[in-house]
Amino acid sequence: MTTTPTAPALALPAAHGSCPFDPPPAYDQAARQGAVTPAELPDGEFCWLVTGHQEVRTVLSDPRFSADARHPGFPFLTPGRRALAVTNPSFIRMDDPQHARLRRMVTKDFLVHRVDAMRPGIQRIVDETIDRMTAAGTSADLVTDFALPVPSLVICLLLGVPYEDHELFQAQSRTLLDNRATPAEVEAAQRGLTGYLTELAARKRSHPADDMLSRLATREDVSPAEIAATGLLLLVAGHETTANMTALSTVALLRRPEQTARLRADPELLRGAVEELLRYLTIVQSGLPRVAVEDVELGGTLVRAGQGVLAMLSTANRDERLFGAAGESAADELEVSRDARRHLAFGFGVHQCLGQPLARAELQIALETLLRRLPGLRITVPEDELVFRGHSVVYGVDSLPVAW
Ligand code: HEM
Repeated sequence: MTTTPTAPALALPAAHGSCPFDPPPAYDQAARQGAVTPAELPDGEFCWLVTGHQEVRTVLSDPRFSADARHPGFPFLTPGRRALAVTNPSFIRMDDPQHARLRRMVTKDFLVHRVDAMRPGIQRIVDETIDRMTAAGTSADLVTDFALPVPSLVICLLLGVPYEDHELFQAQSRTLLDNRATPAEVEAAQRGLTGYLTELAARKRSHPADDMLSRLATREDVSPAEIAATGLLLLVAGHETTANMTALSTVALLRRPEQTARLRADPELLRGAVEELLRYLTIVQSGLPRVAVEDVELGGTLVRAGQGVLAMLSTANRDERLFGAAGESAADELEVSRDARRHLAFGFGVHQCLGQPLARAELQIALETLLRRLPGLRITVPEDELVFRGHSVVYGVDSLPVAW
C-alpha cells in the first residue's frame, strides 16, 4: 500500500503520439506503471490517475467516489471545467439520491425499445443528409455536412429544440467542451445556453408539444433551473459525442480498407464493429473526474478521503487483460470482429451514459448508410493534415474533407 504523492505533471492537452487514435503517451505510460498512479493536475493539485479496467469500474460504481464537484479535492483538468461544474450543475455532477431523482425524469425516452421505434426516423434523417451532400457535388466536409447535422437533428427532434438554432447551440457546446476556453468564456456559453433553454421551456409550459422539454416543463416537481441544466446536458451530450464518433470512425475505417470491405460485404458485422470503434476510439479521452469521500483501497493503493481521481476510460479500453488476449488482435489494434462488449466508452455505474441506446442506433445507421451509399468514399487530404481535437473533452477531428 502506498500514498506516495510524488506526482508527474499532467499536461493538457496531452500530446499525441504517432497514432492519433492511441491514448496520449502520458496516459499510456501511467498505465504501464500501474493501475493507479499519482499525477499533478495543471492547477498544481494532486490526483490519482486510474488506468486499469477493473479499477476504473470500481471508481465509477463505488459510492465512496463522488461526482459532485462541490466536494473539496474534486479534480479539475482546466479552470473552465471548474467554472462549468459549480454553477447550476446538471445531474452528471450530482450523487444519488439527487442524481437519481433527475435522471429518472428523462430515462424513459432513452430506453432501447423507445430508441428502436426511432430507427426509421433516424434512417430518414441520415438519408436526407446524404442526399443533400451528394446533390451539392462529389466532395464535402464530412464533419459539417454529415457527422454534426445527423445527431443534432435527432436530439433537436427528441428535445423539441428548433433545429434552426443549431449554429447557436453547436458553437456554445463547443466552447463548453473546449479545454482552452477561459472561465469567462465557459460561463458566457453556459449562461447563453441556459437562458435559451429557460425561455424555450417557458414557452413549452404554456404550449406543450410531444417532446422531452415539454414533458419536463409541465411537471410540478422540477424547478426551471433544473429543467435548463438537464436540457443543456442532453443537448450538448446528445450531439457532440455522436458527431465526433461518426467522423473519427470514418477516418479509422478508411485507414483499414480490408476491414471496411468486410463491413460492406456483411452488414451483420456492423453492430459489433460499432462497439469495437467505441472501444478503440474512446472519445471521452481525458478521464472522468471523481473525488473520494472516504478512504478507499484501490488496486493496492490507499486513496484518501478528499483526494481526486481521474478514471481513464481510454487506457481501460486498451487493458490487455481484457482485450487482446491470446488469439485476439492486440488491444491497440482496431478489429471490427472483436467482441468488445466490455468496453467502458460509455462509462460505468450510476452515471453510465443515458444516451447509449440512441448513440448506438445513430452510429449503426450512419456508418452502414455511409458505406453502402458512398462506395468510393475517401479522405482527400493526407492524414497528417487532419486536425484532431486533443483540446476538447470529447476527442474528434475538426474537419474531414472527403470525396466519393
Ligand atoms: C454520460 C459517453 C452519447 C447523454 C456519459 C458518460 C460517458 C458518455 C463516458 C459518463 C460520464 C460520467 O460518468 O462522468 C458518451 C459517448 C457517446 C454518448 C461516447 C456517443 C458515442 C450520448 C447521447 C446522449 C448522451 C447521444 C443523449 C442525450 C448522456 C447523459 C449522461 C451521459 C445524460 C449523464 C448520465 C448520468 O450522469 O447519469 N456519456 N455519450 N450521451 N451521457 Fe453520453
